[in-house]
Amino acid sequence: MPENALRFSLADFFFNDNPDVLTPPSDYLSWIGHPEIQTAMRFFGQEFLAAPRPDTEVLSHLDGGRRRVINMTSYNYLGLSSHPEVIQAAKEALDRYGLGASGAPLLSGTFDLHVKFARQLADFKQKEDCLLYSSGLGGNLGAIQGLLRKGDVFILDEKCHKSLIDGGTLSGAKMLFFQHNDPASLEAMLQKSKGKRALVAFEGVYSMDGDLVRLPEILEVCKQHKAATYIDEAHSTLMFGPNGRGVAEHFGLEHEIGMSFGTLSKSFGGVGGFVCSNAGIINYLKGYSSPWNFSCAPSPPVVAGLMKALEVATRDSSLRDAMWANVKYLSKGLKDLKLDLGGSESQVIPIIIGSSGEKLMRFAAEIQRRGLFLQPVDFPAVPAESRRFRISVSSQFTREQMDRALNIIEDVIVKGR
Ligand SMILES: Cc1ncc(COP(=O)(O)O)c(C=O)c1O
Repeated sequence: MPENALRFSLADFFFNDNPDVLTPPSDYLSWIGHPEIQTAMRFFGQEFLAAPRPDTEVLSHLDGGRRRVINMTSYNYLGLSSHPEVIQAAKEALDRYGLGASGAPLLSGTFDLHVKFARQLADFKQKEDCLLYSSGLGGNLGAIQGLLRKGDVFILDEKCHKSLIDGGTLSGAKMLFFQHNDPASLEAMLQKSKGKRALVAFEGVYSMDGDLVRLPEILEVCKQHKAATYIDEAHSTLMFGPNGRGVAEHFGLEHEIGMSFGTLSKSFGGVGGFVCSNAGIINYLKGYSSPWNFSCAPSPPVVAGLMKALEVATRDSSLRDAMWANVKYLSKGLKDLKLDLGGSESQVIPIIIGSSGEKLMRFAAEIQRRGLFLQPVDFPAVPAESRRFRISVSSQFTREQMDRALNIIEDVIVKGR
């Protein structure tokens, strides 16, 4: 591998020319073993030694030592993963039901908890019915793979999550990508797809940039073409809208959305995914969505914890109000430092560094040494010219933690530029 290993990324080693399927490509092996890449890779997969609270402990890969950090990377936006009532509900369910569901939902995996929680989620999202999955990725992949067939067209915003893309690939439908949040580009794709069944997918909050879908304009185009719609509210459920139902509620357009997806691993603080829609299509998906009907149902104690999380988050607006107050405070602090925050309109706040992978990794190491856990986001997860750090704001951040984080960011990123 030449000197400039940092110019390459995982995007360059996808096709394996090795005759043995179980041996990685030889150029990948020399790239991943290169000292520069090994240094960069240290930032990924570091171990948390406690709950993903703002004040936590990690086993730092920088030096192998335990390090207390201000954690600004977890998606635990409302602090529900370790909320005392959530923990208590999960503990009680653990005693009663045991650890796992021990079966796929169609056979022996459906418990009263699953039925109740799916009903609660459908009511919350104001749809007729809901299907619960064991993971968010499985939910997107399974719903799309179950809905679409060869001959259909799946049209996605180019910034949609990999789980939607993989669902499209599995379904056999033709996939088209419209330019990010651009109704004219979507219109062109739908014109091309005339006469075919079409499903259009977009996200409520885009996970790398923190901007919102231009929902009124996008839905208007879909309506004109009678295309079905699918919203991924992974990063917006429980945070947006007067009742926390998401970005569709925020725009007052919930009833215009065909299918609404959410994950249970972010604001809910657990793990799993769900889709809500009309009762007929949810029932149909039970027969055709493999991650639902060929996979074990979600763990009962987790479901019990999630039911409590939904109750806690929706009984009043205090958690999301606290989160929004923190978004306001941190965004102002970062803007005062003249940092490039892209078009963020949410609790996902990127700090865009630019094209230098070397700088990104140098900053990442220094930030962590100073006690802030802020992961670098590199190409191909984001475009090579906009490598970044990404803050996930939590309702649990204190002013003192945010001030300390802003100081570290100023010292390392602003002064190190
Ligand atoms: C937009 C979006 N959709 C779906 C998922 C998958 O969710 P999960 O991590 O719960 O499997 C993610 C995860 O990061 C995501 O950002």
